[in-house]
Amino acid sequence: MCGIVGYIGNDDSKEILLKGLEKLEYRGYDSAGIAVMNENGVHVFKEKGRIADLRSIVKEDVLAKTGIGHTRWATHGVPSTENAHPHQSTSGRFTLVHNGVIENYELLKREYLKDVTFVSETDTEVIVQLIELFVNDGQEVLVAFRKTLTLLKGSYALALLDSQNNETIYVAKNKSPLLVGLGDSFNVVASDAMAMLQVTNQFVELIDKEVVIVTKDHVTIQNLNGETINRKPYTAELDESDIEKGTYPYYMLKEIDEQPLVTRKIIQMYQDEQGNLTIDPKIIKAMNETDRIYIIAAGTSYHAGLVGKQFIEKMAKIPVEVHVASEFSYNMPILSEKPLFIFITQSGETADSRSVLVQIKEMGHSSMTITNVQGSTLSREADYTLLLHAGPEIAVASTKAYTAQLAVIAILADVTAKSRNITVDFDLIHELGIVANAMEVLCDSKEELEHISREFLSVTRNCFFIGRSIDYYVGQEGALKLKEISYIQAEGFAGGELKHGTIALIEEGTPIIALATQESVNLSIRGNVKEVVARGAKPCIISMKGLEMDDDTFVIPEVHDLLTPLISVVPMQLLAYYAALHRDCDVDKPRNLAKSVTVE
Ligand code: F6R
Repeated sequence: MCGIVGYIGNDDSKEILLKGLEKLEYRGYDSAGIAVMNENGVHVFKEKGRIADLRSIVKEDVLAKTGIGHTRWATHGVPSTENAHPHQSTSGRFTLVHNGVIENYELLKREYLKDVTFVSETDTEVIVQLIELFVNDGQEVLVAFRKTLTLLKGSYALALLDSQNNETIYVAKNKSPLLVGLGDSFNVVASDAMAMLQVTNQFVELIDKEVVIVTKDHVTIQNLNGETINRKPYTAELDESDIEKGTYPYYMLKEIDEQPLVTRKIIQMYQDEQGNLTIDPKIIKAMNETDRIYIIAAGTSYHAGLVGKQFIEKMAKIPVEVHVASEFSYNMPILSEKPLFIFITQSGETADSRSVLVQIKEMGHSSMTITNVQGSTLSREADYTLLLHAGPEIAVASTKAYTAQLAVIAILADVTAKSRNITVDFDLIHELGIVANAMEVLCDSKEELEHISREFLSVTRNCFFIGRSIDYYVGQEGALKLKEISYIQAEGFAGGELKHGTIALIEEGTPIIALATQESVNLSIRGNVKEVVARGAKPCIISMKGLEMDDDTFVIPEVHDLLTPLISVVPMQLLAYYAALHRDCDVDKPRNLAKSVTVE
């Protein structure tokens, strides 16, 4: 949520900042701004809307070798030019961009800033005003910056300019992600590496409560006591082509199409030289030592957790509970004696999940993160990490990360089972290969799925997804995909649950997307379809080869029944994609959303 960038070097900073913000736009896109600094002072450009809108107001003839930028996902105050970052102190001396939420900003205003006239509704403005207040009281900028940080409660990634010193960007972070990128006679700051791959692939991770002084030749990391910390840079294993759309109209379509490749890559990455699936022995030990796994996740990753539970319980025979991260703290179950917490998170930055991680670490429990982003906060802070190897996922709606999560959990379950001498009655490598092929067949069925989407979803107000057993979880994911990008009200229900209330919503023509990929419940889900058809619903039945019946709308290829979610989700993704396209929605950047949810 919100993305920040900074550049200090010998080149004009505007284009580097704007390009960086374009790469971070997935993090928030309701307003954006840059501030650039030269001998004449600081020049701020900000605009409601997308980076393209900002680009159109940035003055070409202002040349400046130092600058910071921000793309916003509104938390405090509506999307507007006033609330867009950067924000400035009253005198204009200090200019700040911020990602995160300052929980005590109102208290700080009352205690320290009674006489200040604020121009925005944001929590951020409090930070920049506090810095100016302490500097006006006679403190040096760095001391004032640090003092301000000690007063803040909440999350922040900050980049600060001082108009009296155009050779430094001051940076700090707590809970919100932030990296410093290193170059030859320049340095950069960014919420993630993708934003600055244009100029460097050398990055230094920052840890919470660190302050960084960035000049064009030096990066000095300090803790809040002012002690210097040495940390080696790492090379971001990303290719610029990974983050380009290429010939695709939308990232979402590209990412859907990448799923066969990602599945094959995962098989490869988790195989040893003998061709056996392998996982870090420390992780397998932790799996074997636990008496119950607690999966914590949000949104699509939560849906992956629901399926993952089936994999782990059925293959490795370890009991699993799955919890929505944002609710876990209020409704913490009575934990088992030796719990293992598994955090499933594409971004590795989700604040709701992170707050559970912090809590359970304080309680002394073991933790593991399954994530797509190496070095992300949840990956760094958990005891163990399993990587998805899915490549950057840029569309807000998660697709390839979901199937990658399922593939990785299946491998975890398989390797754990074998370590416990439990026989898994299928060869997972072989079956995942079949899954990858089936995904390809589905990706080649776009025309047919576009047609189905038009028929069922182009004019409807709402849509229900039903399924039983593992299909129920895929239905929930299908509904989430549809609602988030097409704004059709959609819900996923257990087939047997409809008649307990929801069936009242069925009207003439209401589309029902029914999943029928499980032999054990094939007849019962079809019974549920009959119940809704009798009340006027328009059924779209998606079944699996071998289980298909005459009235089925679309038949997916046959794969192992436990692994069906990896492929039955693909038509769900494509139906949602085309529904959004037919309704002229912005597929990659749906309203009100952001990719990386770093506020609780
Ligand atoms: C939906 C979607 C979100 C995320 C959720 C968790 O398409 O992408 O529901 O799954 O915000 O994000 P991560 O997985 O990054 O923790």
